[in-house]
Amino acid sequence: LTDASLEREKTLAMVKPDGVLGNYTDEIKRVILESGFNIFKEKISQLDEEQTATFYAEHYSKSFFSSLIKYMTRSESSGEAMEDSVVSVDEKGGGGKGGLVSIGPVLVMVLEKENAVADWRALIGPTDARKAKNTHPHSIRAMCGLDSEKNCVHGSDSLQSAQREISFFFNEMSSG
Ligand code: TYD
Ligand code: MG
Repeated sequence: LTDASLEREKTLAMVKPDGVLGNYTDEIKRVILESGFNIFKEKISQLDEEQTATFYAEHYSKSFFSSLIKYMTRSESSGEAMEDSVVSVDEKGGGGKGGLVSIGPVLVMVLEKENAVADWRALIGPTDARKAKNTHPHSIRAMCGLDSEKNCVHGSDSLQSAQREISFFFNEMSSG
């Protein structure tokens, strides 16, 4: 006998702050379930600047990095206002709890399915939501993203990334 769960791959899916605050969560979860994924774990979380920088460490040297941090840690999702308004963050890291750090909610999910990593990436569509609207009109980023930054959802890009990202959100009590 084979245990079906042994054949099931896991990936990390995240609905970014613009998706959560734009009320796309239910629709996204509907598409996830209709596409044959099991939602193995899920939770609402909030990323501060430091956590976002760790999560997106591979992009540290990119020109869009600081803008990406602001977008991921915002508490509001309103088109152009996101570009212009200043987020009040203590540059030194702020010592936490009492600081005026603007944070945005994210919904993180562990999705389970055969070929979950590649299939979830295919379902969300290209990074640039404008491209998604043109070439992948049924993708999730076409549905709720705006551009190459505000693209509504995240998906792990490899099995290795999936393991790291799942641990990042769901094994936070363990060290490392
Ligand atoms: P990347 O890993 O290239 O895309 P994906 O999310 O599809 O794996 O980039 C990570 C995030 O960085 C992306 O979701 C949004 C942001 N980003 C920008 O803000 N501008 C850009 O030009 C790119 C490529 C990414
Ligand atoms: Mg990526």
